[in-house]
Amino acid sequence: MNPIHLTASAPLRGEITVPGDKSISHRAVMFGALAKGTTHITGFLMGEDCLSTIDCFRKMGVQIEVTEREVIVHGVGLHGLKAPADDLYTGNSGTTTRLLCGILAGQDFSCRMSGDASIQKRPMGRVIKPLREMGAQIDGVDGNFCPLTLGGGKLHGIRYPLPVASAQLKSAILLAGLYADGETAVIEPAPSRDHTERMLRALGVKVVTDGNVITLTPPAELSAQDIAVPADISSAAFFLVAGCIVPGSELTIRNVGVNPTRTGILDVLRDMGADITMSNIRDGAEPVCDLTVRYSHLHGAEISGGIIPRLIDELPVLAVAAAFAEGETVIRDAQELKVKESNRIAAMVTELSKAGADVSETADGMVVRGGAPLHGASFDTYNDHRIAMSMAVCALACGGESTILDPGVVAISYPSFFDTLLGLGG
Ligand code: S3P
Repeated sequence: MNPIHLTASAPLRGEITVPGDKSISHRAVMFGALAKGTTHITGFLMGEDCLSTIDCFRKMGVQIEVTEREVIVHGVGLHGLKAPADDLYTGNSGTTTRLLCGILAGQDFSCRMSGDASIQKRPMGRVIKPLREMGAQIDGVDGNFCPLTLGGGKLHGIRYPLPVASAQLKSAILLAGLYADGETAVIEPAPSRDHTERMLRALGVKVVTDGNVITLTPPAELSAQDIAVPADISSAAFFLVAGCIVPGSELTIRNVGVNPTRTGILDVLRDMGADITMSNIRDGAEPVCDLTVRYSHLHGAEISGGIIPRLIDELPVLAVAAAFAEGETVIRDAQELKVKESNRIAAMVTELSKAGADVSETADGMVVRGGAPLHGASFDTYNDHRIAMSMAVCALACGGESTILDPGVVAISYPSFFDTLLGLGG
């Protein structure tokens, strides 16, 4: 895709819906594939990452139909996956890679799995270690990187304290636990997104959360349930921040998933002075509501500790909010950002500096001294969808013209991002 040019924006006004939740879309296909019966998924995110998940399960013999309205997964049962003829390719998707490790650990076939250049740099040792403790045959380059080789094994339940608050790691262990000969428990250092636990419960699995301990009892089978995927709060986040920083804006985002393990962005933006209201709140397997944001005078905040996993994917765009907020924002305890699709701390510090922001990198985050006017610049994306969208939001509130180099990378999680922005008057 050619570079996109953006100038200081007119007020953003209107009502939008953003695409389906990425984490829930992945899990809907995976768990639907392992269930007995047919799963109809509405609101599925047709982004490249979730399409990688579909592709992997098709390679293991699962029939998956993609129509205009829904994705239909014909489940094969817990023991029905077939050995893939080729290596599994997970593209840019950490969720596909890590959750599949847990599922593949319990199969009675061997296969290889790899992904793009970014995936090959992301740490897999955190998943390999507990799965080996459970009895799985799994290895990677230097014991830590893709390509991974996975073979079947007889799995035992474990009780495992997670060294990082990672929903991908937690989910990989719980999914291997489906195949274990006893209970599996994970102990979280801080709450991470709980979509796996919620969805497995809905499919009839006994998953008990007691404080920071999550215990799964292996089931005989999962029973298929239709799944309605809410809009992704991580995609809504770009418009929440844009609404706050573009003068005169007022916009509503419909049907957004507001699972409490994902709403750290709302807590922090409100703490920074943002005018965000929730309406039409509905509770189901996942709570949803409409979010309305109005242009706000933001001030700096400290973002650290247990809230970090609740807004881990929103930190790049929160750094943009901080650059337009009066005073200092300190982000701490966010070292996980260095091992996402790109090193998101280094990327945001470099790109915000190009716009004239006063921002410096720290060992586990950054310090942003905001409030001075920023100017347009030519922004790199680091092949990272969230960096591209964060810098596009930044560009809307900078003086002069900006360029987003390689904007096509947004297709990983939000293919229509720039169309939605234009539709709002951006
Ligand atoms: C995800 C969990 C998070 C998040 C990622 C999706 C998931 O990763 O950054 O985009 O679907 O479980 P970690 O759990 O490794 O922090």
